[in-house]
This record gives sequence, C-alpha cells and structure tokens, in this order.
Amino acid sequence: MPALGLGTWRADKGEVAKAVTEALNIGYRHVDCAHVYGNEVEVGEALKASSVPRQELWVTSKLWNNAQRPENVRPALENSLRDLGLDYLDLYLIHWPVQLSHNVMYPQSGKDLLPWTEAHALETWNALEACVQAGLVRHIGTSNFSTKKIQPLLDNGSIQPAVSQVEMHPYLQQNGMRNYCRAKGIAVTGFAPLGSKHRPSHQHKEGEPSLLDHPEILAMAERLGTTPAAVLLGWAVTRGTSVIPKSTNPDRLRQNLAAADLELSEADLTIVEGLDMRYRFLDGCHWVMEGSPYTMKNLWDGE
Ligand SMILES: NC(=O)c1ccc[n+]([C@@H]2O[C@H](COP(=O)([O-])OP(=O)(O)OC[C@H]3O[C@@H](n4cnc5c(N)ncnc54)[C@H](OP(=O)(O)O)[C@@H]3O)[C@@H](O)[C@H]2O)c1
Repeated sequence: MPALGLGTWRADKGEVAKAVTEALNIGYRHVDCAHVYGNEVEVGEALKASSVPRQELWVTSKLWNNAQRPENVRPALENSLRDLGLDYLDLYLIHWPVQLSHNVMYPQSGKDLLPWTEAHALETWNALEACVQAGLVRHIGTSNFSTKKIQPLLDNGSIQPAVSQVEMHPYLQQNGMRNYCRAKGIAVTGFAPLGSKHRPSHQHKEGEPSLLDHPEILAMAERLGTTPAAVLLGWAVTRGTSVIPKSTNPDRLRQNLAAADLELSEADLTIVEGLDMRYRFLDGCHWVMEGSPYTMKNLWDGE
C-alpha cells in the first residue's frame, strides 16, 4: 500500500474527479474511498479515464454501517465496485464498529442504531472473508476499531485484518494501536492527518486545537523549509504508517505527495511526541444519542 494516499471524504462531486485525475497524473497511486462519501461514481470516472494500469493502483473502500448483516456485505461491495468501475478492490474496511438498521443511512434516533456484539462482528468478518475468496477484494480490515475490537477477528477469523484505519496525528498519536498492530503484522493508516477542518460543522467543538497552526509545527516547517502540512504528513510516514490527506487543490495535492519523502529526525520526532493530547477531531459522538446502545466508552473502549 503506497504510504501517501488521497482522501476523498467531502471532496465535492463537481471537484473530486478532477482531483483524482490530477493526483494520478502527479504520481498518487493510492485512493481512499467509501460508499458513504457519496462520490464513488465520480472517483470511478477519473480512474477509468486514467492510463495508470490497474495493478499499479491501490483502491480502498468501506462497508457502511447499514450493510454489516452477512447477506448485505457482498451486495454492498459489488455496489462500490460498480460505482468505481473496478473488478476488485485492494482493501475493504468495516467503516465503523457501529451497526445501523439496513434501511438507515444516518440515524435519526437511537432506535436506528443496533448494538455491536462480538458475534455480529464475526458474522460481518466471515462475509468479508467470503468476498476475498470470491476475488472481489484483495485485503480486508477495520476502521475506527479499538485493539479490543480487532482481537476477536484475529482469534476467530481465517483471514486476519490487513489494515487498521484510525484517526491519527500529533494530537492523537495512537501509540497503543501502533504497537499492537506492529506486533500482529497489521498495517496502520491515519485519517484526518491535517485536522479535518472541512468536516461538517456539527462535528466541530468550540475552542478545538488547530494542528496546522501549532507553534512547534510552524517552527519545524520553517526550519525544514517546508509547510506545516508536510511536517504532519512526513511525521506519519516516518513513523511507518500510511496517511491519506484529502485535497482537491492542485498545489496542495502536490505538496502533500512530496511529504512522503520528508523524513523527520529523531529530535523532531521527540518534539512532536510531546504534542499528544489524545484528542479526537472525529470522536463518533453522532452515534451517541438517547436510546442508542453506543456510549463514548463502549465505542472507543477507553483507548
Ligand atoms: N475511516 C474513517 O472513518 C475516516 C474518517 C475521516 C476521514 N477518512 C479518510 O481520511 C481522509 C483524510 O481525512 P479528512 O478528509 O477528514 O481530513 P484531512 O485530510 O486532515 O484535512 C482535509 C482538509 O485539509 C485541507 N488541506 C489539504 N492539504 C492541505 C495542505 N497542504 N495545507 C493546508 N490545508 C490542506 C483540505 O482542503 P483542500 O481540499 O481545499 O486542500 C481539507 O479542508 C478523508 O478524506 C477520508 O478519505 C476516513
């Protein structure tokens, strides 16, 4: 999996095909998608129009929370394949350890949310394994799972998760997840590496910290003759994780890709280590509401 990929969440339908085309032209080979982003058709148009051979591309998509029942898994994957115009995915992730009723895209009330159980997770996982056997996807993995929720898949599955995709940046360094995955041979991909400023307004909290403006990050960027975004992305890649910044802007696409070659020194890594505050920009609070089986505690398992 190429270490530096392109994020596509909230890349508008009118912009995303242009961004993917530009990204592929300048050398991106990894695109992170999801059914729920609502733009896989446009991403697919750009993939189809590109002259990059399929085997050189890494395309990830994600199973939405309303399609986790085993009978819904393969149809959901086939839907993403159709939208993206592909015969197979490189990676398919369970988007959240959160279950929605099949006919619900976003919960309107707690009744739309069904509990997460180990037995349910294993049924979904087994259905994903069948998709691997059928040649529809090369690798399967998890997204927003704690290590506690990954472990039963390792214990009981016949295919182990290839990737754990989680929010990760200097304010949420995820050392527990990183060490766990390293020990188990699971790759880690970090999302929201730049602080996800473009996420919906209801997900912003008053007074939240800004990553791109942190004085240490600004000073490091100046010293290294690069941009704050490049420092954040270089940090992720130097730590051996992959990272998927979203941009639809040609200059920033270029800047972000170049950061894959920026190796932070031990001294700079130590400075960034001091910035961890276990702060989630995307804390999943939209799954927690009256009547919902989800709490911040059982969602993240305290990790
Ligand atoms: N698994 C999950 O649950 C999950 C959750 C969230 C995200 N993701 C994935 O991770 C990707 C990245 O996360 P994200 O989209 O939340 O946020 P992000 O990549 O941290 O931030 C994207 C924002 O930063 C701006 N930006 C991009 N490059 C920049 C640069 N060099 N300098 C300054 N600003 C820059 C973008 O604007 P412009 O476009 O205008 O450049 C956009 O507003 C998503 O797109 C998605 O593919 C997965």
